[in-house]
Amino acid sequence: MRAVPIDKVRAGMQVSRAVYGASGETLLAAGVTLTPRYIQRLQELGVLALYIHDEEVGDLEINDVVSEKTRLQALKITKEAMDNIRLNPDLELAKVNSVVNDIVEELLSNKDIIVNLVDIRAMNDYTFGHSVNVAILSLITGIAMGYEREKLCKLGTGALFHDIGNTLLPENVLNQDRPLTGEEENLYQRHTVLGFEVLRKLENFSLSVAHVALQHHERYDGTGYPRQLQKGAINEFARIVAVTDLYDKLTSGWGGQPRCLPFQALELIIANREKFFHPDVVENFMNTVAVFPIGTLIMLNTQEKGVVVQTYKEYPTRPRVRVLADSGGKRMVPPYELDLALNPNCCIVRILDEGN
Ligand SMILES: [Fe+2]
Repeated sequence: MRAVPIDKVRAGMQVSRAVYGASGETLLAAGVTLTPRYIQRLQELGVLALYIHDEEVGDLEINDVVSEKTRLQALKITKEAMDNIRLNPDLELAKVNSVVNDIVEELLSNKDIIVNLVDIRAMNDYTFGHSVNVAILSLITGIAMGYEREKLCKLGTGALFHDIGNTLLPENVLNQDRPLTGEEENLYQRHTVLGFEVLRKLENFSLSVAHVALQHHERYDGTGYPRQLQKGAINEFARIVAVTDLYDKLTSGWGGQPRCLPFQALELIIANREKFFHPDVVENFMNTVAVFPIGTLIMLNTQEKGVVVQTYKEYPTRPRVRVLADSGGKRMVPPYELDLALNPNCCIVRILDEGN
C-alpha cells in the first residue's frame, strides 16, 4: 500500500486503510474499490489523502502511535466537549482525563515512537482531528523532553483544548479557504483569550493548562499574540503546542494553503527555531515525526525508484527502502531492499507522486 493525495486518486484503486469521520463513523471501509462517486464524496468531505493498495509496492505495515480505538475515543470526547461548550460551559473532565491517560499510557509503552501515518482525515471536521493530532504530537515531544506521567497528562489536556476558543468564533472566520482579511484576523486571534476564559472558570481545571489556550500563538521572539510574550515568559506547555499546532496545520493544508510534506514542514520549523520557537522544543520535536513516512514513493540519487518501508529515529533522512524500478525505469523482479542508514553513498533526492 501507499499514500496517495486525493487529487491523484483514480477510480478502480482499492482502499487499504479505512477513513473515519470526527465522530468515529466509517466514511470509507478498507477493501472498497473507488468509483467516481466515492472520489467526489471524499473530496466534498475534505479528505486529504488515501492509502491505496499497490501491487508493485506490496504490503507494508504502518502502525499508528496510538491504537485506533483510543484515537477515535479521543476524537469523540473532544467533539462532544467542544460542541457542548457554547451551551453549557462545563467539561466532563473525568472522561477527558481518562482518554488523555490512555494516550499517555499507550505512548509510554511504545518504545520507539515515530509518527509514520500520513493524514487521511476529513478536513470538514478539522478542529477535532487537529486537536487530537496536536495532543499526540505534543505528548511524544513531552516524552522526549523527559516529562513524567502527571506532567504529560497536563500537557495532553492543554493540547487537546488549545483551540477551544474557536468554537466561540463566528463560523465564517474559521471556514475560509483564502487568507483572512485584517478584520477577520483580529477576530480569529481572539480565540486565544476566549478559550482561556472558558477553561479557567472550570472547576478542577489547572490554570497552567488553561494557559495553553491563551499562549499557543505567542512566539519565542515576542512577535506572537495576544500578549507578545517572549522566551521563558511563555507557558512551558504552550511552547510545545506552538510547534505541534503549526506542524499539523502545514501538513494538512490549513487555511487554503498548499499541503506541505512532512520534510517541508520540518524544514520550516527548524528554520524558525529561536525566532518563533523555543530551541529545546524544536530539538525534541524533530525526531517525533518521520521525515519520509512509510509508504512514500521516492527517487534515489542512483535514479532508482522505491518505497519507504521502515524508518529510524536516529537516522531520519535515511530510511529502509524497497527498490521497485532500476535507473532506466524497468521494474525489479523481485524488488530488493536497501538500508540507507548502512549505505552512505545512497540518498533520497526526490519524492514521487506528490506533484512536487
Ligand atoms: Fe490556535
